[in-house]
Amino acid sequence: MSPRQLFVTTALPYANGKFHIGHIMEYIQADIWVRVMRMQGHEVHFVCADDAHGAPIMIAAEKAGITPQQFVADIAAGRKPYLDGFHIGFDNWHSTDGPENHELAKAVYLDLKKAGLIETRTIEQFYDPDKGMFLPDRFIKGECPKCGAKDQYGDNCESCGAVYSPTELKNPYSALSGATPVLRTSEHFFFKLSDKRCLDFLAQWTNSGAVQPEVLNKIAEWIEPGEDGKPKMGDWDISRDAPYFGIEIPDAPGKYFYVWLDAPIGYLASLKNYFGKIGKDYEAFMADPKVEQYHFIGKDIITFHTLFWPAMLYFSGRKVPNAVFVHGFLTVSGEKMSKSRGTGLDPLKYLSLGMNPEWLRYYIAAKLNGRNEDVDFNPDDFQARVNSDLIGKYVNIASRASGFITKRFGGKLGDVSADGDALLSHLRDGIAPIAELLAERDYAKALRDVMALTDRVNEYVDANKPWELAKKDGMEGRLHDVCNTCIEAFRVLTVLLKPILPSLATQVEAFLNVAPMTFANAQQLLGAGHAIGEYKHLMQRVDPKMLDALFEPPAEQLGADSNSSSASKQLVSDPNCSVPGGEEIAPTITIDDFAKIDLRIAKIVACERVEGSTKLLRLTLDVGEGKTRNVFSGIASAYKSEDLVGQFTVMVANLAPRKMKFGVSEGMVLAASHGDEKANPGIYLLHPAAGVTPGLRVR
Ligand code: 2FM
Ligand code: ZN
Repeated sequence: MSPRQLFVTTALPYANGKFHIGHIMEYIQADIWVRVMRMQGHEVHFVCADDAHGAPIMIAAEKAGITPQQFVADIAAGRKPYLDGFHIGFDNWHSTDGPENHELAKAVYLDLKKAGLIETRTIEQFYDPDKGMFLPDRFIKGECPKCGAKDQYGDNCESCGAVYSPTELKNPYSALSGATPVLRTSEHFFFKLSDKRCLDFLAQWTNSGAVQPEVLNKIAEWIEPGEDGKPKMGDWDISRDAPYFGIEIPDAPGKYFYVWLDAPIGYLASLKNYFGKIGKDYEAFMADPKVEQYHFIGKDIITFHTLFWPAMLYFSGRKVPNAVFVHGFLTVSGEKMSKSRGTGLDPLKYLSLGMNPEWLRYYIAAKLNGRNEDVDFNPDDFQARVNSDLIGKYVNIASRASGFITKRFGGKLGDVSADGDALLSHLRDGIAPIAELLAERDYAKALRDVMALTDRVNEYVDANKPWELAKKDGMEGRLHDVCNTCIEAFRVLTVLLKPILPSLATQVEAFLNVAPMTFANAQQLLGAGHAIGEYKHLMQRVDPKMLDALFEPPAEQLGADSNSSSASKQLVSDPNCSVPGGEEIAPTITIDDFAKIDLRIAKIVACERVEGSTKLLRLTLDVGEGKTRNVFSGIASAYKSEDLVGQFTVMVANLAPRKMKFGVSEGMVLAASHGDEKANPGIYLLHPAAGVTPGLRVR
């Protein structure tokens, strides 16, 4: 079979927060599959990107006092340690705000328009008169129309579970300004998904094997007539009014694509961006009917990917996905995950505790069967599986046999006799079916089968007891034979684990002194005369103390109940509590850490309020450099600008410049405040003693 050409993605994460363990699980699932495809000799392009647009990101950036572009860039800058840390090998990481996506989203839209599938309609929506913007459902709150619970969101009630539209809320208010929203009309653009052409196409595509059977069950009601004779599919509102962080709709000033229109187009944009970097022709690749396209996603975004997205592609004349692979959620000890906060399993904390990323890859793989089912991370189960399967059964085979090969046989393998041969053929016969299970994404069954083979090898070791053979006279030949069999067997087992444990497999390749293993080359035995390297311990056992530390809540959460909005508030309201200034002292740093911060005396030579911001003052500072610096500071509530001019303060002079909404900030001035600013308001700018001059270092 000639190599297949594959284009693979995971869902694009919103650029409004760090990765949580749910993201990492999806990336591990996809990364394993990509490695399996590559080990089968196929060409794979595996990309992702930040999902940058939408009202929540725009609003979060405004709150932070920075541009949405800077906000998204800050989030993107934090992605690498997670991806590298868990050996997730995307070929490219891009952003849906990149130029390729602006261009592609407009092109897709214009093609859909040409196909007669876009229409405009006037709709009525809540508008915040203070903020001057239409309010997304999540930013309208009020009393539940069904049970009367207060402070419920515009789309559903967390108290009684009712689902409604924002206009049904009683006493609605804007969560952004507190203002009472008013109903206003606006022209919106719709993708006519209820058009018969779309329904016919989707009925055919969803039944072509492109979705898992359990997913097809879930989406069938959208395309097949229900009790009222109509399918659930309606036309899709793809536009939003300014202000909006997104892509402007061609020939419609002030109208932007709804984030979910341009987000999946970001898959294509990231591929195009990647191909630009490696000098490959994007248009030709996507026009090639042999190229296959696959998306890994979570169960919460099925409709976007199995209905809206294939229809967008098909009716804009583009390649449609060959399949969308849906996975369930990751629970931790049975606890459900919050989309924004994740669970109690923080991936970076996992790595910082020195926990091996491949333990997690193995454990997750052992739980994923390729179906849309939730998987649970259970710490005891995690420890048991890693320690008994990976270390106790698999790694042990190499550690038991390699010492004898090195010490007694000059590091060289010899011949394998009939019983060893029988075992090895059994193992080699397992390669193709296990590779097939991996390709079908049933990693759980694949690993069960690998472990069954591992058990067979261990039975062989226990039956032959090389450590006893080593002590007996005249058994040198048999000892060599048994150890050769073990090393050959270890190599076959490693190739099967390689997509899941890529870093360990690389170490094994070095130890066995072999070229990168593929499913094909693993069939060939190393053979007599092959010299192996020296065995170095391949993997540590999971220490239960690590798991305890992983799930220990951060200090500031101790004692706070789960409903408390601010942990520090909880701490200061306790009369016996002595937390200074409302927050715990930060973890200890060394003097070298401190020396990295260059604090300087600064003279405030000018100061003004920032138009459009209630919090910020713009300070012009003299730090003795022969030029001034521009610094924004959130102290407007505490100081009048004219009172600060001529005063001295302390600034961080080597902070990276930051692009804010109102200009670039070239440092930061120091001020004291309480950990819970709401309960204990007050901001106090630091002033040095008399006699200082600009530029003196504070140490
Ligand atoms: O649900 C989410 O996290 C979305 N950001 C996923 C987008 S996937 C694709 F469409 F970009
Ligand atoms: Zn309710």
